[in-house]
Amino acid sequence: MSQAVVVQNLVYAYSQGEPVLRGISFTLNAGDRVALMGPTGSGKSTLLENLVGLKQPQSGKIWINGIPVESKTLPQVRRQIGFGFQDPNDQLFMPTILEDVTFGPRNYGVSPAIAIDKARHLLANFGLEAYVNRSAHELSGGQRRLAALAAILALEPEILILDEPTNGLDPAWRRHFAQLLLQWQGKVMLIASHDLHWLSKVTRRALVLSGGRIEIDSDIQLLLQDVDTLERLGLPVDW
Ligand SMILES: Nc1ncnc2c1ncn2[C@@H]1O[C@H](COP(=O)(O)OP(=O)(O)O)[C@@H](O)[C@H]1O
Ligand SMILES: [Mg+2]
Repeated sequence: MSQAVVVQNLVYAYSQGEPVLRGISFTLNAGDRVALMGPTGSGKSTLLENLVGLKQPQSGKIWINGIPVESKTLPQVRRQIGFGFQDPNDQLFMPTILEDVTFGPRNYGVSPAIAIDKARHLLANFGLEAYVNRSAHELSGGQRRLAALAAILALEPEILILDEPTNGLDPAWRRHFAQLLLQWQGKVMLIASHDLHWLSKVTRRALVLSGGRIEIDSDIQLLLQDVDTLERLGLPVDW
């Protein structure tokens, strides 16, 4: 089976701090849809940013589709990945959201007409057809999230890495987005979220971060039935 993401003994500390990631190892195979869980501050965003080369680990190695993640391979690595920041404001920087969504494909050599056509289609799919010529500042938080997701999907990445993608979305949009992701069979997905119910619809496997390590790597349905373990790892299902 081909390995889309391989992480070996990853250690990462912010300057002067204790390590946030203390030896993380896991593998994502072709077609894997995986939830990244863990309480606030457990290091989910830090791990995802290491995977896409936005942060450099103190030790350990990462391969994306067989390419080692290093400064000189970053353009090649980023071409394989669609990365959704926890904060959509980090994703949207063009004068209009239409330009935000065409930016990536245009950068990769897609013709303007095709890029615009696809962007309009994606934005319409997210209920934003009336907003294509507005800037992200003029959208609600949830609409900004949807525009950022459209910009990521426009790249048609092989590997989708999303950091809390349902934040700010109402239940109807959360469901719509889940359905959209489920149509994307065969892609590799790693999705950090606190939305356990949503994750259980979209992903099949769960990694749980705790104490800087992957404490659990299991079937997500089995994990969600194990209320004691969830509670112990700081992930109460309800209260
Ligand atoms: N820029 C930063 N400088 C120093 N510490 C940080 C920084 N960003 C995050 N941290 C710390 O790293 C830990 C993990 O944060 P983060 O990866 O954002 O967790 P999560 O995404 O799981 O909520 C937290 O203790 C947080 O305070
Ligand atoms: Mg985070």
